[in-house]
Amino acid sequence: MCGIIGFTGNKPAKDIIIDGLARLEYRGYDSAGIALFADHDFSVRKRTGKVEELRKLCLSDPIDANCGIGHTRWATHGGVTDVNAHPHRCGQVVLIHNGIIENYKQLVSEYALSDKLVSETDSEVVAALLDTFYEGDPEKAIKKAVNVLSGAFALCIMFQDIPDTIYAIRNVSPMVAAHFDGGSIIASDLTALIDFSKEYFVVPEYHIIKLTKDAIDVCDLKGKAVQPQLLTVNWDITSAQKGGYPFFMLKEIFEQPDAIRNTIMPRIMNELPDFTDDGVDDEVFKNCKQINVVACGTAMHAGIVGKHLIEKRLRIPVNVEIASEFRYKDPIIDEQTLTIVLSQSGETIDTLEALKLAKKKGSKVLSIVNVKGSTIARESDYVLYTHAGPEIAVASTKAYTVQVAAMYLICARIGYVKGIISESDTRHFISRLQSAPNIIEETLKDANNIKRIANHIKMATDTFYIGRGLDYTMALEAALKLKEISYVHAEAYAAGELKHGTIALIAENVPVIALATQEDVYAKVISNIREVKARGAYVVLVSMDEKVEDPAICDKHVRIPKVEPEFTAFATAVILQLIAYYTSEAKGLDVDKPRNLAKSVTVE
Ligand code: AGP
Repeated sequence: MCGIIGFTGNKPAKDIIIDGLARLEYRGYDSAGIALFADHDFSVRKRTGKVEELRKLCLSDPIDANCGIGHTRWATHGGVTDVNAHPHRCGQVVLIHNGIIENYKQLVSEYALSDKLVSETDSEVVAALLDTFYEGDPEKAIKKAVNVLSGAFALCIMFQDIPDTIYAIRNVSPMVAAHFDGGSIIASDLTALIDFSKEYFVVPEYHIIKLTKDAIDVCDLKGKAVQPQLLTVNWDITSAQKGGYPFFMLKEIFEQPDAIRNTIMPRIMNELPDFTDDGVDDEVFKNCKQINVVACGTAMHAGIVGKHLIEKRLRIPVNVEIASEFRYKDPIIDEQTLTIVLSQSGETIDTLEALKLAKKKGSKVLSIVNVKGSTIARESDYVLYTHAGPEIAVASTKAYTVQVAAMYLICARIGYVKGIISESDTRHFISRLQSAPNIIEETLKDANNIKRIANHIKMATDTFYIGRGLDYTMALEAALKLKEISYVHAEAYAAGELKHGTIALIAENVPVIALATQEDVYAKVISNIREVKARGAYVVLVSMDEKVEDPAICDKHVRIPKVEPEFTAFATAVILQLIAYYTSEAKGLDVDKPRNLAKSVTVE
């Protein structure tokens, strides 16, 4: 997944583009590049490394240009090299691309493009194709090209004989655009636009966008002019900046109380869950006999928490499906299946394609999405937007807890409309949910105590997270968090299952984070802890105990506030996020931009 930006106007383009790339860098940061349109030609600068490297490269080049395009890359086709970095120039065309062209090799042979190519990328093939088709009419060349492309693309294109003009077109991969008094700007998402305009539009798929300093024209592939719907940004740039924290991830961990309040409070009327303002029709809940939850990564883990709660409280079967598996398993779906899709970015292509499959098979789709107007939101029958604000760190934290909170609201609404849970019990449940932000605030006070755990984990090669029931679902997310930002291998295990083989990996000082917040299985988890302790493990116990009865069972105890069993998830989540965060920080890593990752995976 990559970040793309284009600007043309009455201001110097270079810094606008490079600053925009810095905002988009969380989307991909293997390499960065810029193409400026100056003196009827393109000046292209690109290299591996982060945007700051590109900025240094351009420092010595005081290129005077008011039009240009820029790109941050997360490599898909071709290694991380200067040549494979974008922009790609071929003849009269220069472009940047986010997405994957699935038939690029076939296009190379079909249109004899190989002599034009110097990189290993699919994106350069698009530049060569456009250069082949271009005879002075950009729209014609673009139409011809997109007719033969298959796959996802967001393209920004410049033609050498059309100065200070940028063309763009997308399919699946995201792009937003805005015209303001200084010119026209287009980018992968709002973080690069928000300094210039609070009004924007989502670039419609398969429409040709023409940006000049005076206007943005949108037309469909038949040449018909289209007026896109203007949207207003619902957050300000400070929320997309660090605000004094060393990393976005820590800021976003501490933003969770407000993120949850902003997500749940507008959906609670008289202590009852209420989705009226979201336009969610209760019929979709009343008719559902089975629920499929489809997502990826952390979003999927939030879905697993939702499964645990819905099955326990409502006795409705819930299947949680890995989106990339769901798409190819011919899933069991009928009109009485409700599909709940979770996605922070709303652009994860595996999740998007799974959503489309569920709809095709007759299921209604309710999505829980953080980015307003994102593709998944637009493709869903119903959307519950989480109001967590922009999540910049690649590792998802506040998006996870607001997704869990949204699942709790959905569970409460289903139970209430189906008459499975009484009104009074629903009111009680909702009042407990409203205390989730306070639970997190209370837990965050213990951050320094949690920080000390990182010293034992940062040198580990293997770490285990164990728990039962709800705690096991939390362990899944904990393991992912630690792996993706500290590069320490971690595995979540059902505490009762460990002894069936994997306990062979427990040896002296192997860290085991044991979650024992569920009273009904507490004693069993303590037994499992004794099993690993007896084999030399370094045990961190997370529980509601005021004081651990037998101090010999753990090396460290992290206490969470005393709450009803279903609501320990919010405290546990924060503790596990902090363990991962402090471990990564202790290792001196770039917590916000872990190696090999990108914030939203828009490639399959
Ligand atoms: C979470 O820390 C990861 N960055 C990743 O697993 C992420 O949750 C997953 O790619 C899904 O992204 P989405 O929520 O934007 O769809």
